Amino acid sequence: MDLFEYQARDLFAKHGVPVLAGEVIDTPEAAREATERLGGKAVVKAQVKVGGRGKAGGVKLASDPADAVEKAGQILGMDIKGHTVHKVMLAQTADIAEEYYVSFLLDRTNRTFLAMASVEGGMEIEEVAATKPEALAKIAVDANEGVTPEKAREIVDAANFPADVKDGIAEALQKLWTVFVKEDALLVEVNPLIKSGDGKIIALDGKVSLDENADFRQPEHEALEDKAAANPLEAAAKAKNLNYVKLDGEVGIIGNGAGLVMSTLDVVAYAGEKHGDVKPANFLDIGGGASAEVMANGLEIILGDPDVKSVFVNVFGGITACDEVANGIVQALELLKSKGENVSKPLVVRLDGNNAELGRKILSDANHPLVQRVDTMDGAADKAAELAAAK
Ligand SMILES: Nc1ncnc2c1ncn2[C@@H]1O[C@H](COP(=O)(O)OP(=O)(O)O)[C@@H](O)[C@H]1O
Ligand SMILES: [Mg+2]
Repeated sequence: MDLFEYQARDLFAKHGVPVLAGEVIDTPEAAREATERLGGKAVVKAQVKVGGRGKAGGVKLASDPADAVEKAGQILGMDIKGHTVHKVMLAQTADIAEEYYVSFLLDRTNRTFLAMASVEGGMEIEEVAATKPEALAKIAVDANEGVTPEKAREIVDAANFPADVKDGIAEALQKLWTVFVKEDALLVEVNPLIKSGDGKIIALDGKVSLDENADFRQPEHEALEDKAAANPLEAAAKAKNLNYVKLDGEVGIIGNGAGLVMSTLDVVAYAGEKHGDVKPANFLDIGGGASAEVMANGLEIILGDPDVKSVFVNVFGGITACDEVANGIVQALELLKSKGENVSKPLVVRLDGNNAELGRKILSDANHPLVQRVDTMDGAADKAAELAAAK
């Protein structure tokens, strides 16, 4: 989960990383008092989860409270790379002497953590990496050792920071590492980390991405979710603990196991080419042990998606036997009907693997008017695509 700058700033402050005072507002008029509280002038910063806000006109200096109201009015509602600005942060103005770059991230390729640092801060780091790769130091950080004072020193030396800021930056790096570890982050990036006119090191911008797999031990992170931006179907699926991703096609997909569901998406997209280019409407992995309730929850989400015209249930019985899944489907349809849900979209079911014969028999015996059995994956995908195209 990516955070807004102001949320990153709050986490930095919590762990002792030096930041400037700031206030978040969502109406221009609120900028007046906020700016007064910040000492009479402020930097008005668009809060969108995308970089390059400065260049796009989303970061503006306001010289007094009235000016802040005007700048906030210009920035609120602005579109930055497809993101609408709903909130701005008013931040204390910094007297910038130098702009640097530092970050910690998960380096999946090398199976370790990585520190990156550069004296070329302020501009986009991808640009530095492309045009001046020698100016971007990359130092691996061992997960067990973390950023010790020695490691911090190694990073500042590798990045060639000027002697007068090395201690300050090394200290900031250790605190940012604390943010990275304590908050279960996948990315902590500061661009720019500045040296102020009076020699202080301050994090002026912050990008933090949190690892949702650690949500169970980070109860405070739920409050950081941008509920307004979440897709309502994805939010409903999340509330039911389903592994669901909304896509933009017409064929609803349910399967067991992420690998099978991924390949089902491919097969449906391929089959859909012959039927007016229909595509998968979602990813939904109901996992192992697909009980009737889980199946009902999954079907409820998918059938509730107005884009869905047909549903493909693709199950390969392993630990979960196909007869259980078949019973699940039958019971799920009954459950939904008893809840007053309007179940009117055709379902194509393919069962294979453990107890497939029994499962197929259960579906045949149930003889549900909306359910069709097709016993091959390609055949079922084709049928589901055809039904979606016919609607
Ligand atoms: N509080 C501040 N005081 C002074 N200048 C700032 C402040 N915040 C940002 N800036 C300037 O604006 C630039 C862009 O802001 P930043 O927060 O990095 O947004 P983005 O990276 O999205 O463009 C910074 O590199 C810095 O020069
Ligand atoms: Mg920045």
